Amino acid sequence: MKVLRIVYVASLLLIDKCLSSKCTTTRTGNDVSTDCHGRGFRYVPRNIPNDTTCLDLSDNELSIIFNFAFSRLKNVSSLKLSSAQISVIESKAFSGLVKLTSLDLCNNTLDIHSLPENVFDSSSFLRILDLSKNNFRYYPEKVLEKLTNLERLSINGIDDQTFGNGFRSLRKLTYLNFDPCMITRIDNNTFDVFKNIQLKELSFQCKIRYVEPGALIPFQSIESLDISNNFYVRLSYLLQLLNGLMDRNVTSINFYNNFRTVPAADVLLASQFAMIGAVCLKEIDLTRNRIISIQSGGISLMKHKNCLEKLILKENSIWGDRSIVIEIAKLVNLRWLDISNQATLHVKTKVNKNKTCLRRLDMTDTNYSSDRLTIAFQLPRNLQYIDVSYLGVRSSGLVNLNFTNAGKVDFFNLAGNKFKDCLEHFYGLSRLQTLDISDSNCSELDLKMISFMPYLKTLISRRTHLNVGLQNDVNGEFLKQLFGLKHIDFSDNGFFTFNQNMFVSQYRSLISFDLSKKQIFQIPNSNQQIFNFDEIKSRAKSECFSAEI
Ligand SMILES: *[C@@H]1O[C@H](CO)[C@@H](O)[C@H](O)[C@H]1NC(C)=O
Ligand SMILES: *[C@@H]1O[C@H](CO)[C@@H](O)[C@H](O)[C@H]1NC(C)=O
Ligand SMILES: *[C@@H]1O[C@H](CO)[C@@H](O)[C@H](O)[C@H]1NC(C)=O
Ligand SMILES: *[C@@H]1O[C@H](CO)[C@@H](O)[C@H](O)[C@H]1NC(C)=O
Ligand SMILES: *[C@@H]1O[C@H](CO)[C@@H](O)[C@H](O)[C@H]1NC(C)=O
Ligand SMILES: *[C@@H]1O[C@H](CO)[C@@H](O)[C@H](O)[C@H]1NC(C)=O
Ligand SMILES: *[C@@H]1O[C@H](CO)[C@@H](O)[C@H](O)[C@H]1NC(C)=O
Ligand SMILES: *[C@@H]1O[C@H](CO)[C@@H](O)[C@H](O)[C@H]1NC(C)=O
Ligand SMILES: *[C@@H]1O[C@H](CO)[C@@H](O)[C@H](O)[C@H]1NC(C)=O
Repeated sequence: MKVLRIVYVASLLLIDKCLSSKCTTTRTGNDVSTDCHGRGFRYVPRNIPNDTTCLDLSDNELSIIFNFAFSRLKNVSSLKLSSAQISVIESKAFSGLVKLTSLDLCNNTLDIHSLPENVFDSSSFLRILDLSKNNFRYYPEKVLEKLTNLERLSINGIDDQTFGNGFRSLRKLTYLNFDPCMITRIDNNTFDVFKNIQLKELSFQCKIRYVEPGALIPFQSIESLDISNNFYVRLSYLLQLLNGLMDRNVTSINFYNNFRTVPAADVLLASQFAMIGAVCLKEIDLTRNRIISIQSGGISLMKHKNCLEKLILKENSIWGDRSIVIEIAKLVNLRWLDISNQATLHVKTKVNKNKTCLRRLDMTDTNYSSDRLTIAFQLPRNLQYIDVSYLGVRSSGLVNLNFTNAGKVDFFNLAGNKFKDCLEHFYGLSRLQTLDISDSNCSELDLKMISFMPYLKTLISRRTHLNVGLQNDVNGEFLKQLFGLKHIDFSDNGFFTFNQNMFVSQYRSLISFDLSKKQIFQIPNSNQQIFNFDEIKSRAKSECFSAEI
């Protein structure tokens, strides 16, 4: 009995093994995809359908790709061999893959000896090659030299190695990504071999410590540049690289998350910030660079300030006088401004402890407490999106804000700025569609606060004590006339019940109504269906409130 049982289990295992080592093939139109990934293969299986066009052999244990391993598979155009523990590829391994355009060899243990010089001789159509995350200590120049049709290349970035004739031959290359990238310095002549290549995208997440200002000059056609996650170097230093792109048209530059290794801060001098405008640049991302101050005057100094459409400064610790905010109006084509999430950075710095320097980048930084001023803000006239949430400001009363040039603003996030009350007005935001005022204390609420926003579609007001602020709003003044309001988020306001007339203007428009983090009430948006206030109220009582408790 026992023996029988063991045999039975063993045969089950055997069946399992057989099933799991089978590939699956799906056919859609002319595409024949055979998926053999993660099946524990130690060799390229023999039974792959010969009309396969896309073959996935990733996540196996292939070790060696022998000569003629794919010779039956003349129609394969895309071959995935990533994470397959490959260390040796024989010189005729890809023989027969005459239609191969995309080859993924990422995350194996290849070095320069694993790739024979002639390995791609029969694959002259190769356009996409991923050699990243391998063990290269030298660039496989001889192999690259033959790949004259290559358009996209990912490869290890090797420190102390120059780019040679292999790279120079990649005349059609448009995308180059170094991964992982150990390169520590870029000199004026580092990229010389790329001079006649129309590279459009370069990703350079490296270990840069030293740069020379002319280093990017060879990239005449660059559209998108990623210089993020270089942990050893300050943004204020990296910005000099833009010197090499002077007067070029560039779509986006990403400087995300540099300078992480030292607990120190960065200060951008006006002349450094102005480098952004040396280039005719549309979008720049300066997220997470430990910036504590941007000296005023930088925007005025930008030569191509009219090019900038998107400026992201979030997750820094920016202090500084308000003039940089006032200057922003000069970015006349800016559509998107994100300066959210400025954290307090506790670091030793050499920054001048000058009172005026250490003011927060604070929209309400003036005499608000005694009498309520109306502060005028001039915005860039094409601005549509403003995120000034979580600026790390001192808790203060909100002031009246009078925006000029705000006719295009449709998104305004003011959450997390801990206003002590909601007694103020925003003027000028006549086209606003989304407003977030979460984490203010609206116990004291001016019921006309948002009444100037006739196009409002989404109102987010979490954790704002609105239950207190709205308790006496028996006529439903707060939301009156906001006929387009579709989404209301009043979660974590401690509501028990609403005044009868609270939502009279929304009975046609409302689609969703959130009362807690956990509960979202979907209300069908149909013109015939009258918004059922009692139903909402009872749901609020039964589901939401009990859920909160
Ligand atoms: C492809 O495989 C089919 C069925 O296995 C076979 O009949 C056919 O001859 C093969 N074609 C080529 C070109 O090898
Ligand atoms: C390969 O593709 C060509 C053209 O799409 C087709 O005529 C041929 O039958 C395919 N080969 C196999 C073995 O299916
Ligand atoms: C790389 O390959 C190894 C071994 O094949 C595997 O364990 C690991 O998960 C892979 N890493 C990635 C990022 O795919
Ligand atoms: C690098 O190039 C820049 C711009 O062309 C030039 O100003 C600088 O002097 C050069 N530096 C070196 C070390 O050659
Ligand atoms: C940048 O773009 C503008 C407008 O499209 C064009 O007139 C100008 O020649 C371009 N400049 C460069 C250096 O390509
Ligand atoms: C403080 O900053 C102001 C304005 O930037 C400047 O005029 C003044 O000289 C600075 N004072 C010191 C002690 O650095
Ligand atoms: C604050 O108000 C007082 C009196 O109205 C005025 O003298 C002072 O200049 C104001 N301070 C600022 C920073 O506007
Ligand atoms: C807002 O500013 C505009 C232009 O500066 C001015 O005409 C208007 O009266 C101001 N509105 C308020 C309420 O202060
Ligand atoms: C909110 O404001 C009210 C009235 O100004 C005050 O009594 C209350 O303590 C404040 N709540 C918080 C959490 O600050």
